[in-house]
Amino acid sequence: MDGELAAGAARPARIERLGEHVGQRVRLEGWLHNRRSKGKLHFLIVRDGSGFVQCVALQANFPPETFDRLGRLRQETALVVTGTVRQDARAPGGYELQLEGCEVVHEPLEDFPLGHKDHGPDFLLQHRHLWLRSSQQWAVLRVRHEVEQAIADFFYERGFVRLDAPILTPAACEGTTTLFELDYFDQGKAYLTQSGQLYAEAGALAFGRVYTFGPTFRAEKSKTRRHLTEFWMVEPELAYATLDDVMALAEEFVVWIVRRVLARCRRELELLGRDLGRLEAVVPPFPRLRYDEAVELLRARGREFAWGGDFGAPDETVLSEAFDRPVMIHRYPKDVKAFYMKRDPEDPRLVLCVDVIAPEGVGEIIGGSQREDDLEALRARIAEHGLDEQVFRWYLDLRRWGSVPHGGFGLGLERTVAWLCGREHVRECIPFPRMLYRIYP
Ligand code: 4AD
Ligand code: MG
Repeated sequence: MDGELAAGAARPARIERLGEHVGQRVRLEGWLHNRRSKGKLHFLIVRDGSGFVQCVALQANFPPETFDRLGRLRQETALVVTGTVRQDARAPGGYELQLEGCEVVHEPLEDFPLGHKDHGPDFLLQHRHLWLRSSQQWAVLRVRHEVEQAIADFFYERGFVRLDAPILTPAACEGTTTLFELDYFDQGKAYLTQSGQLYAEAGALAFGRVYTFGPTFRAEKSKTRRHLTEFWMVEPELAYATLDDVMALAEEFVVWIVRRVLARCRRELELLGRDLGRLEAVVPPFPRLRYDEAVELLRARGREFAWGGDFGAPDETVLSEAFDRPVMIHRYPKDVKAFYMKRDPEDPRLVLCVDVIAPEGVGEIIGGSQREDDLEALRARIAEHGLDEQVFRWYLDLRRWGSVPHGGFGLGLERTVAWLCGREHVRECIPFPRMLYRIYP
């Protein structure tokens, strides 16, 4: 079959746009994803990165050795196929290719380690570089890509400036227990950033509305399905804003992302078997509960919960199950939250913060707050948290010149993608997950 392409130019095409080529001869550059045979037919499932398509080879159209070889090709053989596009409602994706030619570009000498059978998570993670080729992982990471684009579009359309925060930082943002530490030449210790927020605040006072979007790091000693040690966070920050403004923005943002994915990733969501009705239910307004009300709700649903604590994963699950859309919980006790959050002027035990908890068990996808904008109050909070004021000098300067009410939030990309895709674990929602027990590949 090498060099056996039939005469007549075939147009280069990608599987995601096959609908534009019905009845035409096309050429696809891809890989053999799967195959099966039935009598005088071979069905080759070919993927090209943009999708999957069934190519039907009729015995009558090929010399006997070629037809025979087509029926023995290994999974992940690299190949260039030519054929005529046919619309077929029964075919996965709605189109199939009547195969006319097949050029083998690379033929593996061994069977692909990830066949179409069940493998355990450790085996799959150990082969993450190959696992990415599976249809489910392909779908999840395509959704991630769409969410990233939706994020950029949302903020661009609303006049936010993207401000890239540093990854190497001199200080903790989200508590000192989850810092990755390294030696920074003769400057002492440096840390991988836990959040771009403090820099976003400087940006908000310079540009009014900004967002940071990049990798963040937490040396989490937890092995839960919601925690990674390296994850991506998007953090908008607004000058002249209160907690209510932050909550309104978070709600609009989540709705925007869900709608975009419903509009543009239907194929991927269907491939993942996602219940689309659950996502279609995500419309404003989201329920807003004070921390106190959330505690009452937990107790009413039979959970013992002492006022003052943070919600654990089982609490979040109970809270989210009470609603059909994300729930916003605001005004937590100050002792379970970060140093930079502003005290509630109406109740000094509380801070002006909000967590958004997604439905269906992924838990908190957003954490945000109004920031402490008073110099002395912030210094007191830094001291209370046992932090070194020296490393926060620049941050305190933001309260010395032109301090205004301001706030923002951080949305965790992997948890959001896990929720949208209905995946159990965030480790499938980033190309190469980093976890407590995993740095390979
Ligand atoms: O609630 P967090 O810790 O908030 C902040 O970092 C603030 N500085 C954000 C801000 O106000 N600008 O983290 C925000 C979100 C969480 O809601 C969660 O979605 C995600 O980041 N997240 C993680 N995702 C995966 N693995 C982890 N270890 C995560 N820790 C937080
Ligand atoms: Mg949080």
